[in-house]
Amino acid sequence: MLPFATWAAGLDAGVTATTGISGSSELAPTNVKDILNVRGFEPLARAALPPAHFGYLATGIDDDRTLRRNEDAFSEYEIRARRFIDLSRVDTSTTVFGAHWRTPIYFSAVSAMRAFHPDGEAAVARAAASRSAQLMVSTGSSVPLEQILTQRGAPVWQQLYPTDDWTVTRELVRRAELAGADAIVLSVDSTATAGARNSETLRRAARVDKRDCTACHVGNRHDMWLRAPLFAGIDVSQVKGLAPPGLTLEWVDRLRGLVRGKLLIKGIVAGEDAQAVVTHGADGVIVSNHGGRNEETLRATIDCVAEVVAAVKGRVPVFMDGGARRGTDVFKALALGASGVGIGRPQGWGLAAFGQEGAEAVLDIYARELEAIMRQAGTPTIAAIGARAVLHRGAA
Ligand SMILES: Cc1cc2nc3c(=O)[nH]c(=O)nc-3n(C[C@H](O)[C@H](O)[C@H](O)COP(=O)(O)O)c2cc1C
Repeated sequence: MLPFATWAAGLDAGVTATTGISGSSELAPTNVKDILNVRGFEPLARAALPPAHFGYLATGIDDDRTLRRNEDAFSEYEIRARRFIDLSRVDTSTTVFGAHWRTPIYFSAVSAMRAFHPDGEAAVARAAASRSAQLMVSTGSSVPLEQILTQRGAPVWQQLYPTDDWTVTRELVRRAELAGADAIVLSVDSTATAGARNSETLRRAARVDKRDCTACHVGNRHDMWLRAPLFAGIDVSQVKGLAPPGLTLEWVDRLRGLVRGKLLIKGIVAGEDAQAVVTHGADGVIVSNHGGRNEETLRATIDCVAEVVAAVKGRVPVFMDGGARRGTDVFKALALGASGVGIGRPQGWGLAAFGQEGAEAVLDIYARELEAIMRQAGTPTIAAIGARAVLHRGAA
């Protein structure tokens, strides 16, 4: 485990107040097995990381209210437990695009994970391998995709910020598919399309970070992105942004023509958009607001799931991410029609605190909690978690 850093105490109140660590009452456990729930890793990550790196992991946008809504809105759904069901065998596994997943929980794209642990994405890939979990690799991964695939030993999903230069888009997709990514995940939320975002929690944290960061942070944010290993050897001299200025459905058509494997669209929060991308050839839709890191809409992703599922009408699977911190949250998303649930920050917390072991423990805790609620709610299989398994608070 990484040593606890003494500067942790110096974090300014803004970071503490806006990121919140409720429920993480364990007092500095030193053994991964002592962590009670995934939130228990958050204070350890805070202590293990330089303030700016923790701020990067933690930040939302503006006042972080969408980030908190993502988490809190799960509490608006109640689980409707059933009795008299044979629970002698409870099976959390599922099949997605023909692949066997031990649970419906996957690692969503998180960029620059070497900021959280020296092994970064390689450690997460090993954790995904040991737990048979799906891994979505960020365009901004700090470990080359080829190395990640070696550690994972199975196809990954490659998240795509395509840039505004089609030649670069083509090279990125070709590289990812050649390396062994069997799905390209186009992110359409505003990190890519709108550029600047007001990450105040990050900025507050960076302010108290007194290290000299110039060895790693060369140039501006744009330059940093283009120095990610996925861009190595690709001429990025004409790139002005991480997405085309007009990321229209016609542009999606063009990408569809390029991608040989599955094409998923990440960042959908409205039924009309879901319907449109399916019509334009998407093989899957991911309900996401980027973990509340882009736009302060206050609309939680769990509240968008039913709308998107209804719009897609079963033609393709719908996944979701944002704020899931408990097995019961995963259960609720599945009941609302999701085929899988992505996790972002918790993998960073586990990784920062305990490396590969921490990322594994995070998956284990979600799996254990999911299995528990499946048993308690009388739903012995993932398929059994139907729409009647949850109610919105107050609904009959
Ligand atoms: C530090 C960090 C970096 C992220 N990087 C990316 C990225 O490169 N591409 C992307 O599509 N999403 C990225 N995301 C968003 C996640 O994939 C996911 O949508 C979100 O974190 C889910 O919410 P959660 O953190 O509450 O679980 C990032 C999230 C975090 C916290």
